[in-house]
Amino acid sequence: MASNDSTSKTIIVALALCIVCSVIVSTAAVMLRPAQQANKDLDRKTNILAAAGMLQEGVSVEEQFSSISTRAVDMATGKFTDAVDVATYDQRKAGKNPAMSDDLGDADLAKIGRRAKYMLVYVVEGDSGLDKVILPIKGYGLWSTLYGFVALESDLNTVAGLGFYDHAETPGLGGEVDNPIWKAKWIGKKSYDAENKQALTVIKGSVDSSRPEAVHQIDGLSGATLTSKGVDNLIKFWMGKDGFAPFLANLRAGEA
Ligand SMILES: Cc1cc2nc3c(=O)[nH]c(=O)nc-3n(C[C@H](O)[C@H](O)[C@H](O)COP(=O)(O)O)c2cc1C
Repeated sequence: MASNDSTSKTIIVALALCIVCSVIVSTAAVMLRPAQQANKDLDRKTNILAAAGMLQEGVSVEEQFSSISTRAVDMATGKFTDAVDVATYDQRKAGKNPAMSDDLGDADLAKIGRRAKYMLVYVVEGDSGLDKVILPIKGYGLWSTLYGFVALESDLNTVAGLGFYDHAETPGLGGEVDNPIWKAKWIGKKSYDAENKQALTVIKGSVDSSRPEAVHQIDGLSGATLTSKGVDNLIKFWMGKDGFAPFLANLRAGEA
């Protein structure tokens, strides 16, 4: 009989251990997948509610989100579409898939390369109709692509809130995009001017509130000019003709 120190026994024990461990790891991965998906979903809903300034403590996110409907927008027409199933559609993946997205070429102000053909938007209905619309935004800062949401009031012009849920800018510098004090500066700003021209902008330095254009301007982040410029570019892109401007115009006209 082979001794316990024999090469064959050592290999058998090692192999058995590998098989047992891989079964445990793959079972755990499969069993935890639904929980991971549920957490991801919860996180997305929390971020949407937070950007719109609707997140309340002590009320479940699911309950708060029940007043929000998720709709897909065809970016070519600026109209709602049923071309994708909003429950399963992965916008980030679609944005990288040439069959599901468009190359932005010279129009790529936000430095994202491609824009998904269909984008998910979130519509908040109140007792008297449309209350808010929450739009996804993304664009390159200094080190990373920033992903977030901007919420507009029912006039589809006044900013109800803005927030980023994913980026890798430097904490304390570009990372100050997450600072609640800076995010609060967006609330009440107007995206378009009286002639419906795009006007929302992040400036370098502080906004002079005595100037009439202050209603469209947000203070730049000090020491983070490049991240601020990235946010300025991305907001201009998504509020513009290659972003959500056609959809907002259709929604305003009741033709989305
Ligand atoms: C380690 C390190 C991290 C930085 N992170 C950022 C950043 O996240 N965002 C940013 O705009 N600038 C960042 N900067 C600063 C930029 O390099 C650049 O100096 C700055 O954006 C220019 O802004 P200013 O014109 O206000 O000086 C960082 C600099 C260093 C040394």
